[in-house]
Amino acid sequence: MKKRFEKKKVIITGGSGGIGRETAKQMLNEGAKVMITDIDKDALKEAEAEINSDDLYVYKADISDEKQVKEYAEKAKELFGHVDVFFNNAGIEGKVIPLEEYPMELFHKLIDINVKGTYYGLRYLWPLMKDKGGSVIITSSVAGLTGTPNVLPYVTSKHAIIGMMRSAALEGAQYKIRVNTINPSPVDNRMMRSLEDGFAPGQGQAAKENFEQSIPLGRYATNKEVANLALFLGSDDSEFITGTVNPVDGGMTA
Ligand SMILES: NC(=O)c1ccc[n+]([C@@H]2O[C@H](COP(=O)([O-])OP(=O)(O)OC[C@H]3O[C@@H](n4cnc5c(N)ncnc54)[C@H](O)[C@@H]3O)[C@@H](O)[C@H]2O)c1
Repeated sequence: MKKRFEKKKVIITGGSGGIGRETAKQMLNEGAKVMITDIDKDALKEAEAEINSDDLYVYKADISDEKQVKEYAEKAKELFGHVDVFFNNAGIEGKVIPLEEYPMELFHKLIDINVKGTYYGLRYLWPLMKDKGGSVIITSSVAGLTGTPNVLPYVTSKHAIIGMMRSAALEGAQYKIRVNTINPSPVDNRMMRSLEDGFAPGQGQAAKENFEQSIPLGRYATNKEVANLALFLGSDDSEFITGTVNPVDGGMTA
């Protein structure tokens, strides 16, 4: 099989989580050099041991801290010089709470990570992509396309970064930087276990079945299915695709 990431240098945020880690594995398999960053030091260590590749670099950084983002961008420059693919993926789900009761502190934290953190990464890796161009993939969600009760901050953040993607795609075209979002439906991983428990405390399985009924293909996505889309958008197979929203959602938003 053709290796689509030969000579490509990749940065993945949230790189020790479900979607990020699977994407790192697949890109490495296809020849990339990959730096994963994450706030979770233990998960980074575990990902490093599990992936076990000389072409993998790990770096602990909190994407909501501008200084730490500058530092991981510096590290990327030192390691790679140019960056070909930036998978701007880290995010948190927050909690399932009605809007008038949602803790303000958590609202701010969520926006700091999901919106400001996504922007900081874009801003500080942009100079490393401008010279030769590349692909930025931002992880939005089906929650960026429709509303859901009781998770207003999450939904707000995932809508916001679609606007960020569209503006960046228009600015990036002159530098051959493509920018797109991926928009997964519920994915069978840690984040959904947390949300299922939030929607139906102690009855996660029932909440899951409820979600599944809203997905025409009748099940959650897998990390691998989301990674497959990230690989397509990161590779030259999608070289004329920019400024787009890409559901991987079993028909959920059809
Ligand atoms: N799981 C789903 O059902 C689903 C659906 C749609 C979109 N998404 C989005 O996919 C992305 C990846 O999530 P996932 O499904 O792999 O879940 P996950 O929780 O396994 O991964 C998220 C990763 O982001 C990291 N992270 C959190 N806050 C951070 C911070 N401040 N700085 C750096 N890293 C931080 C976490 O440590 C974790 O490793 C997120 O943006 C999420 O909102 C997930």
